[in-house]
Amino acid sequence: MADFGVRRLGGRIGAEITGIDLGSEISDSDFRQINEAFLRYKVLFFRDQVITDAEQLAFAARFGPLDLPHPMMRTLDGTPEVIPIDGEDQRANHWHTDISFTLTPSLGTTLRSVVLPPYGGDTLVANGAAGYVDLPRELRDVADRLWAVHTNHAEQPRLGTERGDRVRKAFLADRHEVAHPVVRVHPESGEPSLFLGGFAQRLVGMTLRESRPLLDVLQSYVRRPENTARWTWRPGDVLIFDNRSTQHYGVDDYDGHKRILHRVSINGDLPIGLDGRTSHTIEGDE
Ligand SMILES: [Fe+2]
Repeated sequence: MADFGVRRLGGRIGAEITGIDLGSEISDSDFRQINEAFLRYKVLFFRDQVITDAEQLAFAARFGPLDLPHPMMRTLDGTPEVIPIDGEDQRANHWHTDISFTLTPSLGTTLRSVVLPPYGGDTLVANGAAGYVDLPRELRDVADRLWAVHTNHAEQPRLGTERGDRVRKAFLADRHEVAHPVVRVHPESGEPSLFLGGFAQRLVGMTLRESRPLLDVLQSYVRRPENTARWTWRPGDVLIFDNRSTQHYGVDDYDGHKRILHRVSINGDLPIGLDGRTSHTIEGDE
């Protein structure tokens, strides 16, 4: 296999990694390079990987432990760390940070193509750190002081099918509510980023109505085309994004076609704000 290589997708986020076979043992020196690229480019893509669930788990486990199960999504029988992302269950066509309604949202998520539609179904990933840098000074000063309430009872798209309603109901069965800093300091790079997304429902100390325009304006910086990467899936593709500093969106434009990705998320840590304070629970079983 060719040597390790990094092909950047844009100036602010995203890179394709070449010369790595995720189905075989990754050497420590290769992993160091992958992790460096992961922190820098925030989402990495690997093409032409013929790997199994076990190999996807082994790859994800290089980044950290995987033993925190998703609080409400169905998992594969026998391998609870693998979540099938199935377009017939739900379509994640809203910008979000995975399980940000929990106290310790995932460090990162790996996704692997299993069944792809004939068209559509791209994945978008946005860079929250670039969004923060783009804020005008005056707005940054405001964002620096804000905290947001994240809940699974915020934005949750509706599929409009019986199966979709069942999955949605399970997703909403328990209520999780936590407060996270709007500007999160990355635990490894120290980089500040806007830590928001669709589960960020309101700002601490403000009503829903007061929060919405401010959340929207902050989100608009994260979602700028310059700050996003768009990936068109091919068979054999694997990606990993840093869930501590990105948001993602599953484009729902593949009509009634089947689309299944396998997701394995890595346990995350307790977010820390600029002033050193950490996230805390408001409601839920954590
Ligand atoms: Fe997600």
